[in-house]
Amino acid sequence: MKIERWDFNRGELQENDLLLEPLKLFKQWYEDAVSENVQEPSAVVVATVLDGQVATRVVYLRDILEEGLVFYTNYESQKGKAIEQENRVAMNFHWSELERQVKVKGIAEKVPAEVSDQYFSERPRLSQLGAWASNQSSVIANREELILRMEEFENKFDGQPVPRPENWGGYVVKPTSFEFWQGRPGRLHDRFLFTSENDVWKVNRLSP
Ligand SMILES: Cc1cc2nc3c(=O)[nH]c(=O)nc-3n(C[C@H](O)[C@H](O)[C@H](O)COP(=O)(O)O)c2cc1C
Repeated sequence: MKIERWDFNRGELQENDLLLEPLKLFKQWYEDAVSENVQEPSAVVVATVLDGQVATRVVYLRDILEEGLVFYTNYESQKGKAIEQENRVAMNFHWSELERQVKVKGIAEKVPAEVSDQYFSERPRLSQLGAWASNQSSVIANREELILRMEEFENKFDGQPVPRPENWGGYVVKPTSFEFWQGRPGRLHDRFLFTSENDVWKVNRLSP
């Protein structure tokens, strides 16, 4: 099978673009992805380690805070268990239409319960019930089991607001490094790595 090659010519990233703090530059790139109608601009791969085994999955970025990048999940899922054991995680955003990638390393911490409560309360009711029905990442016998659990919680919370399950909530990934990658012709891509040393960001250009 022949895999097509792609040349990159959408843009550049130069030293002049790096005057911003990396989180601000990240926000700018995220906003570019939204305004350029990138498909699923919020989708991000999160890598965790459990018992020495790396695993990845896609989640949705749900907030960009001063402290870091927020996503929501089940705290007892595979990723939740991994973060419990090793809270150093990595994230990878690939905005292919912009020929851009951002790699983030950081420390994942649960967001305060009130923050998760607020976000949960804004979710569609079906998603709220789904959070109760799904013991995410556990083995189930068949789909019917899931539907039955959904009905069970529909009945349980009939006519009332659905509270947030305690095992469901947000993580904020507090960044320790950011790498911004802009594809360039001839594979001479622009790469800049920001690392935090004693709370001061240092930046270096990396060879593509
Ligand atoms: C586009 C996309 C967005 C997703 N967003 C989330 C999310 O925000 N939170 C989440 O827990 N799972 C999300 N998932 C499902 C995860 O990829 C994954 O299957 C699930 O979280 C279980 O992962 P784990 O077993 O590694 O913990 C998403 C999947 C896709 C494809």
